[in-house]
Amino acid sequence: MTRIRICGAGIIGLACAEELLLRGHDVEVVDPAPGSGASYAAAGMLSPSGELWHGEADLFRLGRASADLWPAYAARLGVALAQSGTLLAGADAGDVQEIDRQLGLLAEAGVAVEALTRRELVAREPGLGRVTGGAWLPDDHSVDPRSVVASLLARVPVVPVASGARVDLTVLATGAHLPAPYAALVRPVRGEILRLRAHAPDQAPATTVRGLVHGEPVYVVPRSGSDEIVIGATSDEHDTPPVPTVEGTFRLLEAARALLPGLDRAELVEVTARDRPGTPDNLPLVGPTGEDGVLLAAGHYRHGVLLAPITAQALADHVETGAVDPALDPRRFVTEGSAA
Ligand code: GLY
Repeated sequence: MTRIRICGAGIIGLACAEELLLRGHDVEVVDPAPGSGASYAAAGMLSPSGELWHGEADLFRLGRASADLWPAYAARLGVALAQSGTLLAGADAGDVQEIDRQLGLLAEAGVAVEALTRRELVAREPGLGRVTGGAWLPDDHSVDPRSVVASLLARVPVVPVASGARVDLTVLATGAHLPAPYAALVRPVRGEILRLRAHAPDQAPATTVRGLVHGEPVYVVPRSGSDEIVIGATSDEHDTPPVPTVEGTFRLLEAARALLPGLDRAELVEVTARDRPGTPDNLPLVGPTGEDGVLLAAGHYRHGVLLAPITAQALADHVETGAVDPALDPRRFVTEGSAA
């Protein structure tokens, strides 16, 4: 049994803690405001295909592997997994060209995805507005991150300040704001996100829609089994506090209501902004730092919810065997405890 202190009770810190507790370790999680960071804002898309980007083959591999873990993980935590797939939709010809590029990347990664005409898109999602074409991603699903965090918090005790007890290992899982000397390994990437309440079925899409509207990316996630709809998200590199802005809210609403005009009658209930923890290569930092007894589980950028189960396994495996996936190894950026 290893004595471990985890700093940070977002979805990553909690998932790691739960896995370590299940494996019989002695775990203390410290956070004065559990679940209030990026996990609180996240839409919960489990979307390795929709988020695939150039040069991110390792991220795609990890995302697919973690997506495969989610059905059993959600069942174990008692949270609903919406397995209804994702529509990609482009408003104009330029947007469809971008979607075609995405399909090309997926084909290179060995995933065959069929492009859809406007007519085929509307057959799948009758509430779509002016769209020109798109595609169907059958394996990109979603989960409610707030339910996941609530379920993890019911399994993992969290204290506001460290007890002072001696531990063998400390895991830093504080998202976009790591302590020294690791602070420079993550950069804050602000995301603004909206939550709506649908008052009639025609106000919400049946499935997640990821759109490009005249170049503006937007996603609309209907929450399975509830009237919640999430619209996200802006993405801004910044060094000011993450507050919701008029401009960000306007951009999201403008794109979302062009894509799905039925949203106009839904109730706007929440506007949230949080920092995503971006790393230099957009891959997380999971494992040893080079500093004795200090591990990282951080830097999950746009993928914290998707990668939570695989991160928990990777971190716990490292604690027990010393194994580390080179793609996740924090030492690719740090040497002997100092940020490179
Ligand atoms: N994973 C979606 C986002 O970060 O906006």
